[in-house]
This record gives sequence, C-alpha cells and structure tokens, in this order.
Amino acid sequence: MSLKKIDHLGIAVPSLAEAIPFYRDVLGLKYHGQEEVADQKVRTAFFEIGEVHLELLEPTSPESPIAKFIEKNGGRGGIHHIAYDVDSVPEKLAELTAKGVAVIDKVPRPGANKKLIAFLHPKSTGSVLTELCQPA
Ligand code: CO
Repeated sequence: MSLKKIDHLGIAVPSLAEAIPFYRDVLGLKYHGQEEVADQKVRTAFFEIGEVHLELLEPTSPESPIAKFIEKNGGRGGIHHIAYDVDSVPEKLAELTAKGVAVIDKVPRPGANKKLIAFLHPKSTGSVLTELCQPA
C-alpha cells in the first residue's frame, strides 16, 4: 500500500496567537481554525496550501512533546514533522514494522480533524519525525 500524498507539515510554535497572523494575514493562507488534541497536549491550527496543510502546534503543558521540542530548539519553533496520507494506518504500520521500521505508536491514536494517526520513530527515518494519517 503506497503513501498517497503529503497530508500536512507539523510546525511547532511557542504561541499560536503570535504565529497565526503571519500564516493567515501575511502569507494569506486559508485558515481552518484551532483544535485542542488532549492526547498530545497540544493546540493545533490548520492552514491550507493546495492539497497540503500546515499544522501549527502549540504546547498546552510543559510535558507536551512540543514543549520539549521548543525547549531543545532554544525556545523557538520550527518544522516538527511530516505527515503522509494513507488509506489505512494499521495496515501501513504492520507493513513498515515488517520491514524493520521502528515506530513510536504501535497502535494508531486519534489526531486532529478526527484522523487516525501514528508516528514512526526518527531513528528509522533519518531523524525526520514521520506521521502516518488516515482521513476520518
Ligand atoms: Co501532524
């Protein structure tokens, strides 16, 4: 089963309130609003650019993986992950695991926009945090 397209790029930001005006008003991207993803301790804001979306990620807790990413990055945001669209996250996870790819999520979990998501481990992806996501 092949990857279909890039679904979104995840971009960590210290503050959505400070980042949103740049993407919405300066770049002029279509804004799809905010959503809290409790499971990942983040609040997201989505923007549309062609078939791809940008997912801005603001930590809602110091324990959030995004808070740790920003801390390691000297308090600044940056590109955090790339997400590929697949028909079935469970099937793709099984296929990649069989090929020896290390995964963070052995079992898919809920992401933003009611999608099913799973992260692959950066040690198997050349240090690029990689997400698989399946439309709701
Ligand atoms: Co994502």
